[in-house]
Amino acid sequence: MRVAIIGAGKMGRWFTKFFKEEGYSVIVSSRTREKLLALKDEFGVEMAESNVAAIEGADRVLLCVPLENLEAVLEEISSHIRSKQVVMDICSIKEIPVNLLHKYVKKGIVLGTHPVFGPGAKSIEGQNYVLTPINDKEMKFAKKFGTWLEEKGAKVVITSPRDHDELMSVVLGFPHFLGLVVGDTLLNYSNFVEAKDVAGASYRLLLTLAEAVASEETGFYSNLQMSLPEVEKIEGLFLEKVEEWLELVRRKDCSGFSSKMEQVKKRLKELDPDYERYYEVMYRLLDDS
Ligand SMILES: NC(=O)c1ccc[n+]([C@@H]2O[C@H](COP(=O)([O-])OP(=O)(O)OC[C@H]3O[C@@H](n4cnc5c(N)ncnc54)[C@H](OP(=O)(O)O)[C@@H]3O)[C@@H](O)[C@H]2O)c1
Repeated sequence: MRVAIIGAGKMGRWFTKFFKEEGYSVIVSSRTREKLLALKDEFGVEMAESNVAAIEGADRVLLCVPLENLEAVLEEISSHIRSKQVVMDICSIKEIPVNLLHKYVKKGIVLGTHPVFGPGAKSIEGQNYVLTPINDKEMKFAKKFGTWLEEKGAKVVITSPRDHDELMSVVLGFPHFLGLVVGDTLLNYSNFVEAKDVAGASYRLLLTLAEAVASEETGFYSNLQMSLPEVEKIEGLFLEKVEEWLELVRRKDCSGFSSKMEQVKKRLKELDPDYERYYEVMYRLLDDS
């Protein structure tokens, strides 16, 4: 099996290593030659002279470029794709890329995928991986590829591009937004770093979230905020909730606050089977960070 990886950035590097370790023949193309040379030196993979040259003879093509470059890459390679090849993107949103894959790839199979982990992931084990087929042919391949990923330890979810993007508004967009707003707020307190010395797990978790999000690439995170379909709605709702809770604090309404907290507690307990394990999960997250 030969895999062509287009884009030698952070995720391109991760997948180069992954497929190479799986024993695949890997060829990589990218815009910046130095990045290709680095991958060749590190993993002994082949470097292609162009994106078109990379896909020639490849069974699978993995597009590891940012969303804003995806259309240009597809336009460049589309007429060279053969009927037996599988072309997959890994963009963190799915509706726009899947439409682009269908617009440009007329032969072969396409599949929208989203590895829901970053380049820091040590292995695929335990990682979530979403596949978004939109017809029977893609579903057949998604099941086969999903089974292979599961054998490697990934947790695979198959869903539609739209449902994926709505879910990502909650699982990516909202926590990113929250982390940035929390960081922006804490910066107004000159002793927010020293506060760690006296802090318990909740503050450390909050600061870790803020720092983890702020350390990421601004372009990638801004694009996600602007592209996820439900994110504005969730963040607007959050603002309303902040006002509701703050009003109770302003009014010094202790019983109102307690009863609102009681309702949240009850609903979380009813809806989340993991509710009782929050303590264990929180400390595990802190230990891993
Ligand atoms: N980072 C994450 O945590 C993460 C997680 C899951 C999925 N993803 C998805 O993975 C994709 C890549 O993300 P990343 O973090 O790896 O980005 P990245 O580090 O910026 O890497 C993107 C690479 O694509 C190359 N590229 C851009 N246009 C190209 C073209 N026309 N031809 C060939 N190569 C081209 C870039 O070249 P240059 O080096 O010349 O700029 C760069 O090396 C994105 O779609 C993102 O949504 C990212």
